[in-house]
Amino acid sequence: AEEASAGAAAEEPVSHHPVAKVGVVGTGTMASGIVEVFAKAGHDVVFVGRTDEKAAAVQARVEKNLDRAIAKGKLDEAGKSAVIDRLTAATEREALGDVDIVVEAIAEDLDIKLELFRDLDRICKPGAILATTTSSLSIAECAAVTSRPADVIGMHFFNPAPVMKLVEVVSADGTSPEVADTVKTLCLDIGKHPVSCGDRAGFIVNALLFPYLNDAVRLHESGVPMGDIDDAMKATKLPMGPFELLDVVGNDVSLAIQTTLVEAFGHEGWTPAATLQKVVAEGKLGRKTGEGFHTY
Ligand code: CAA
Repeated sequence: AEEASAGAAAEEPVSHHPVAKVGVVGTGTMASGIVEVFAKAGHDVVFVGRTDEKAAAVQARVEKNLDRAIAKGKLDEAGKSAVIDRLTAATEREALGDVDIVVEAIAEDLDIKLELFRDLDRICKPGAILATTTSSLSIAECAAVTSRPADVIGMHFFNPAPVMKLVEVVSADGTSPEVADTVKTLCLDIGKHPVSCGDRAGFIVNALLFPYLNDAVRLHESGVPMGDIDDAMKATKLPMGPFELLDVVGNDVSLAIQTTLVEAFGHEGWTPAATLQKVVAEGKLGRKTGEGFHTY
């Protein structure tokens, strides 16, 4: 990880494709944050939701964050208007025909992603980069359903996307080095810290983070109070305790990632903790539903 990270910074990747206009597909937490990041950095952004309501929810989330920045004296009304003016909401994927890069942040389900990649291949102009922010699925499988696998790449943002600097830039075997360099340069341009990763389950961060989060749930199952575990880990200078972080990421997303890791690497001890499965079955998905391990 350190080598990749040092390399990304030291090599000053050269961008060969100019990236001006950006497309984002999806209307969840990640998609909204990614729309905000690109628009704040000066890119025109077209974002596509399945319904007008869902697209409007993205716009509302971005505006709420901009209002928060105004309240803190970090942005003025003119700055907010400039960001809003760069946003275009759409409900048809055809709106992505002239973007230079698409970042998809739709459901973490391979069949749904493959259906999208087939469409993007049909709709997007030649040379457009097709990026996925999947946290656990294979980039190569997404690339394989397109006629342009060299232009398909992973661009894994972290939650909350407007705040977290890290982006894992994930190359599959067929991804062109030029496309990887373009995406790394783009990350630097939008104020992010790119780290190059191979197309391996969990990439770097999730392969290390989620077994820890799963172990925290098991520790709790063995009788240690959640609050004590959160307190102890925060006292090690982590920004959040494991249960707080699970609730931010979403317990459904966390369960999906842990399941992918155990399937990929077969470590028996990595089987998702029973309580993680239980909270997901009960719909206690975390902050987004108002209740997860903690109540909000
Ligand atoms: N959206 C936009 N901005 C947000 C935000 C959000 N959801 N949450 C916080 N912020 C902003 C605040 O407005 C504030 O901005 P300013 O400094 O400009 O005022 C800044 O972030 C800091 O926020 P706070 O002071 O309110 O709160 P904090 O100091 O407790 O920080 C945090 C909040 C950044 C979320 C911090 O708790 C943190 O770093 N948590 C860990 C997050 C993490 O590890 N994420 C990775 C999860 S794994 C993953 O995402 C991968 C995957 O595939 C699932």
